[in-house]
Amino acid sequence: MSKQTVTLIKGDGIGPEISAAVKEIFSAANVPIEWEDAEAGLYCIERYGNGLPQETLDSIARNKVALKAPTTTPIGGGHKSINVTIRKSLDLFANVRPSKSLPGIKTRFDNVDLIIVRENIEDTYGGIEHQQTPEVAQALRLITRSGSRNASRYAFEMARVEERKTVTCVHKANIQKMTDGLFLRSFQEVAETYPDLKSNDILIDNLCMQLVTRPEQFDVLVLPNLFGDIASDLCAGLVGGLGVAPGGNIGRDAAVFEAVHGSAPDIAGKGLANPMALLLSGVQMLRYLGLNYYADRIEQALRLTLVSGIKTRDLGGNANTREFTHAIISELGATSIAKADYNEVDTVGPSKIIIPPEPLTQANKPWTLVGIDIFIQSNGMPQLPQSIGKLKLSMISNRGTKIYPGILPDILLVDCFRCRWTSSEVLSNDDILDFLNNFPKEYTWVHIEKLHNEGETPMYSKAQGE
Ligand code: NAI
Repeated sequence: MSKQTVTLIKGDGIGPEISAAVKEIFSAANVPIEWEDAEAGLYCIERYGNGLPQETLDSIARNKVALKAPTTTPIGGGHKSINVTIRKSLDLFANVRPSKSLPGIKTRFDNVDLIIVRENIEDTYGGIEHQQTPEVAQALRLITRSGSRNASRYAFEMARVEERKTVTCVHKANIQKMTDGLFLRSFQEVAETYPDLKSNDILIDNLCMQLVTRPEQFDVLVLPNLFGDIASDLCAGLVGGLGVAPGGNIGRDAAVFEAVHGSAPDIAGKGLANPMALLLSGVQMLRYLGLNYYADRIEQALRLTLVSGIKTRDLGGNANTREFTHAIISELGATSIAKADYNEVDTVGPSKIIIPPEPLTQANKPWTLVGIDIFIQSNGMPQLPQSIGKLKLSMISNRGTKIYPGILPDILLVDCFRCRWTSSEVLSNDDILDFLNNFPKEYTWVHIEKLHNEGETPMYSKAQGE
């Protein structure tokens, strides 16, 4: 059988320790893959001025599959996240994070078996942020119909392959009516095309409560990026913590498997790291490649190790990385998995899931300009005329709270005001330019957003009437 070449990114922090452990276990299990080492991490910035060298992206694109150990991302500044860059560059649109109770790991629940499918490109991870005024920072949260449908479709297809029953959409569409509303609508459209599977939806806050009280009720969950990131750490906690939570980033042409946890700088270089999450990510990768015999054998050896009581410190044991790795290797011989029961490469499996590109079916819908939100810098309530050209002042808000029309509430006002101007007529670009030219010069505007209606649907009528 020819060997599949897989890119291996050792990362930084505990990355090199845990990737060496996975390599050793794969080699002991005779897994038919060839590793191609590639670099990424904090040290690459010092060495090459770039945390993610182009050669690494080329290697993943060439091999189509990678196993990635964690890499450090500075908080509140510094370079962009390497993970986010990999996901975006290769359009790895679905992040699949299974959470399953493991033997020998004592947690509050022993019956968790769910899979999170997280939209992996959009949401606040677009990284579109601005310091609007000295007091106000803004992040744009982008949700698209195609991105939401891609993630949903992957969740349903995967549910079929994994013989799951129910796919649940997680959202906050009661508050984020447009963004999460679009995510939910897209999910529901996709759900209609999978009549063999049950579908439902739940608010993210309720989900969190339900997860820590009755996690067994959930099967497959599909979430926008940020909610998915947070909920999957919560789910990791349900089954033993970050040290045991695997994941895979799946696209049309490539897939990158990585643990949910980060580079754990607090224990890096001490030989204490738990390699299990990266190992289980490797197992997920083997199933993706259809190498189910090797995946099942390694997973069973890991389970036998845990049952025998050998665990790393994060799981309440006292084994170090080396001892834990060697215990798994010695259990490989004790597994009951027989090669004869498997095909060399399984022909059904996650890698066989093909998600066709989403056509932009809405792109040519009628789209009419009806107003403008103009964000202005002001210390105190701005004094604005009732109308400028064809536009009328219909609302002012500060920190998202409406402060005009009506009585000015006694609340903290910061130095950025959103002023909504609308018109009963359909507007042109020239009307907006005319408006901006005539806007009171004493106010600096920092951001504008045009308001459109979709066909006959008045998207802003509610806010206009507020
Ligand atoms: P972290 O996941 O690295 O660590 C959180 C806690 O869990 C620490 O106490 C750590 O010691 C422990 N832990 C994590 N993995 C462990 C393992 N395998 N074995 C034993 N204990 C483990 O999260 P943190 O500290 O918030 O982030 C550290 C760095 O990692 C940051 O720069 C962050 O941006 C980055 N990061 C990278 C990810 C990736 O490359 N996929 C994912 C998440 C964070």
